[in-house]
Amino acid sequence: MQAYLNGQYLDKSSAMISVDDRGFVFGDGIYEVYRAVDGELFEGARHYQRLLEGVDALRIERPREAGEGQLLAIASRLLRENGHDTGHATVYVEITRGAAPRAHVFPAADTAPTVFVTTYPFKDAAAVRAEGARAITQPDVRWLRCNIKTVQLLPNVLAKQAAAEAGAFEAILIRDDGTVTEGTHSNLFAVLDGEVRTHPATNLILPGITRAVILEIAAELGLTVREVAITEGDLGGCDELFLTGTTTDVMPVTSLDGRLVGTGQPGPIATQLYEALSSRMESLRTVAR
Ligand code: PDD
Repeated sequence: MQAYLNGQYLDKSSAMISVDDRGFVFGDGIYEVYRAVDGELFEGARHYQRLLEGVDALRIERPREAGEGQLLAIASRLLRENGHDTGHATVYVEITRGAAPRAHVFPAADTAPTVFVTTYPFKDAAAVRAEGARAITQPDVRWLRCNIKTVQLLPNVLAKQAAAEAGAFEAILIRDDGTVTEGTHSNLFAVLDGEVRTHPATNLILPGITRAVILEIAAELGLTVREVAITEGDLGGCDELFLTGTTTDVMPVTSLDGRLVGTGQPGPIATQLYEALSSRMESLRTVAR
């Protein structure tokens, strides 16, 4: 598998970073996951914008490769060389503040950021989607800048592991005050009182690209949508719950903490939104050919 690391294309198994890398030592970096269809990035401009916002929020100097054209060229070459330019794949980009002797304060201004890019095959969880996913709730113990896509994912990792050990697909995170925020790697939507609701794009959630696309699609379909937080108390009365994300698409949640959601079957709104999202992705194929 080919990867790009700091100006070089090489086999991923020989891509090495320094033990002084601040991504390794402090989690001092950001990442992005793009979806590719037949070698074309889905909503590439939006993912790129979020990546730049992350780099700027962490005050990492924008690396040379962070030009949109350069990054696109790197992604296209890796997708091709890895044989991921047909069908669905993902592109992973990570940018850290680079390698420097360990000190909390930012390193010298000439420290080059670390830039790593690779691609992965994408496997859709179609069988889970057909039945609906199980989810559990977990306390949201993350920091208060969840809008930045940092590589500091330990709370997400621990919550997802708890889900896996409970035989669930995802953990849904809840703040101490009962505000339901999102999943460990997905955003959350609920259908409640005839409305589609999702947490507003504040510091408490990642502003998901799929979330933004689903909001657009929902408006096009004439659904009533409100960006308002779902509370823990709302969860028991939802007609539908579903997750969205680059690696999740739209995933209906049909059981939460062992209790059925709505009818216990994937709901009509999640199904309709999934189909519309899929056809937007499929339209990339037409462009590509
Ligand atoms: N995760 N919320 C969190 C905490 C996420 O990590 C993600 C994505 C999302 C969905 O965002 P988007 O629609 O832009 O993918 C929401 C990626 C896929 C990951 O960590 O692998």
